Amino acid sequence: MRKKIIAGNWKMNMTPTETKELISKLKDKCNIDEVDVLFVVPAIDVTTAAECLKGTKIKLGTQNFYYEEKGAYTGETSAKMILDAGATYVIIGHSERRGIFKEDDEMINKKLIAAHKFGLKPILCCGESLELREKGTYKLFIEGQIRSAFDGISKDQAIDTVIAYEPIWAIGTGKTATSEEAEEVCKFIRETIKNLYDVETSDKVRIQYGGSVNAGNAKELFGKEDIDGGLVGGASLKEEFINIVNYK
Ligand code: 13P
Repeated sequence: MRKKIIAGNWKMNMTPTETKELISKLKDKCNIDEVDVLFVVPAIDVTTAAECLKGTKIKLGTQNFYYEEKGAYTGETSAKMILDAGATYVIIGHSERRGIFKEDDEMINKKLIAAHKFGLKPILCCGESLELREKGTYKLFIEGQIRSAFDGISKDQAIDTVIAYEPIWAIGTGKTATSEEAEEVCKFIRETIKNLYDVETSDKVRIQYGGSVNAGNAKELFGKEDIDGGLVGGASLKEEFINIVNYK
């Protein structure tokens, strides 16, 4: 039985001061056993968030890192810095990083390898554009993203990777995929992992859905067989997130 994992991706929101305020509003009611709850905050907020979350079960992550160990990479953050600051998870390959910051499949693969090498737990994002959804070739595209990201990743590392299916057309648009549409792709991703590894790996790997998740649709989405939780953007910045993690 896979434990659900529900993560709030704060994106580029919240100063360290605002981080304290938001966490103080959310933490008691998000401090639950039933699901893994994760706050994925900007790198500058990790130290503050880690301090605020001390003594809770809520896990902490950040939204990006660079795959090299250290050195002359102005503006970048290493895995060691993130871990030392108190976060354990990292998002890799979010569509905003692929689209706005031009991260390609090769870089995403390097980041996935490096996250495992340096001890960060990755959340690997995939998902198609509206154009590919309408063309009908979205599964082929997602299979390509998964195959490329997992190149050189061992079975144990694959099991320890969270995958987030985030159709780009559903992100920040209020246009959620239906639970059937989300389930279809999450099942397909599991099938792809089975083909790349084996049934044990595909049974254990956790696959989230992301894209306009809110308190009204969480129960329906997370009730699906192959959807093991969510990656929540806008609604994770509000008290609504409490209702999402307590969706049952
Ligand atoms: P929204 O929940 O705001 O649509 O964002 C989804 C997302 O991109 C989470 O990573």
